[in-house]
Amino acid sequence: STPATVSLLGQQYPKDKVSNVTSAIADKVGRNLYMNPSHPLGILQTLISSHYHDFNSMTGLSPIVTPAKNFDDLGFPADHPGRAATDSYYINRDLMLRTHTSAHEVEVFARRERQWLLSADVYRRDEIDASHYPVFHQMEGARVFPMDASGRAELEADNARLSHHLARANIVIEDVPHITPANPAQAAHDPVLAELVARNLKLSLNSLMLTLFAGRAGADAAEPLRVRWIEAYFPFTTPSYEVEVFFRGKWLEILGCGVVQQLTLDRAQVPNSISWAFGLGLERIAMILFSIPDIRLFWSQDPRFLSQFTAGQISTFKPYSKYPACYKDVSFWLPDTGLHDNDFCDLVRDLAGDLVQDVVLIDSFTHPKTNRSSKCYRVNYCSMDRSLSNEEANTIHEQVISTLKDKFGVEIR
Ligand code: PHE
Repeated sequence: STPATVSLLGQQYPKDKVSNVTSAIADKVGRNLYMNPSHPLGILQTLISSHYHDFNSMTGLSPIVTPAKNFDDLGFPADHPGRAATDSYYINRDLMLRTHTSAHEVEVFARRERQWLLSADVYRRDEIDASHYPVFHQMEGARVFPMDASGRAELEADNARLSHHLARANIVIEDVPHITPANPAQAAHDPVLAELVARNLKLSLNSLMLTLFAGRAGADAAEPLRVRWIEAYFPFTTPSYEVEVFFRGKWLEILGCGVVQQLTLDRAQVPNSISWAFGLGLERIAMILFSIPDIRLFWSQDPRFLSQFTAGQISTFKPYSKYPACYKDVSFWLPDTGLHDNDFCDLVRDLAGDLVQDVVLIDSFTHPKTNRSSKCYRVNYCSMDRSLSNEEANTIHEQVISTLKDKFGVEIR
């Protein structure tokens, strides 16, 4: 039978019918990979922190938050898909694992921090493949300006400084207008000041992109760094943007950002202020910079992985022998209540841990007469560190099948 509580960071939390934090996930809470200065995530977070050397780093913020803090305080609508139990990890009705570092914006602004960074583990239910893992790391950054003539002067001076620096750099920027009808400024903002803040955000992040990508291995030193700005939408910023960088022949999504909704600063009781904020995924950038081919490697304790990295250095990962994959299929008739892909993935992750490399839905079909639906998933079992025997993969796969039957009442075909 399932325990009535879930243990997280040494504390027991009561479960209820929405609880979906599996033990595979609970085991990751508190690992704090990014705090190890010679782990690729730590190296990247140190590089970004030293770029923003005059920003304060926030620590000690628990990954266990209320849905209000993760969503409502940031203006997420009641029907936002991110709230669904198929997309997020709920401890119970009242508590969840944060899905993004923006969940801490209100409390950090409330501390009257004017320029700050926050690195943290975040949790999202998702498919299983080489670039998705249910636990990953984000870094949030924000800068607050007074909403008056002194703020305007500060912005003008900083924008001049950053433009001067960028004008000398080998960078080509594909920009969008700071403010458009589809990506508007806020009613609470003087449009001139909002423009200056948006421009400061863009200049600041263009400069960060130079620090991260210019002159890295695989980039032609003579070629300029290409950065592309795209209009975006987030419930807690407007105007909002996404940043992409052209690196090793491909456009890569790097981050989301924007001018913070006044609602957030009001909730934090910070008067007469205007702010920008950004949030970036550390794994995505680290996989590119260090040439790490599989996101599970970040969790590896294998010295063949860990010993390759040195604090303060971006180096190219050399893959050690890749072990053969072992595919196992499972086909079944869905229960009347259905079964979400993410429920299947979490079930596999819980039984196989990091021995699952990916899960692919290879067939899905509805019987024309009975109207029953069936699905077939292909699970690829493969260890990062050793050769997995067929017997071992079979044992796990049999557990997957019996759990599917017991927990979800499916009928195996
Ligand atoms: N929290 C957003 C995400 O996870 C990123 C973001 C941060 C966007 C800050 C705007 C401002 O996608």
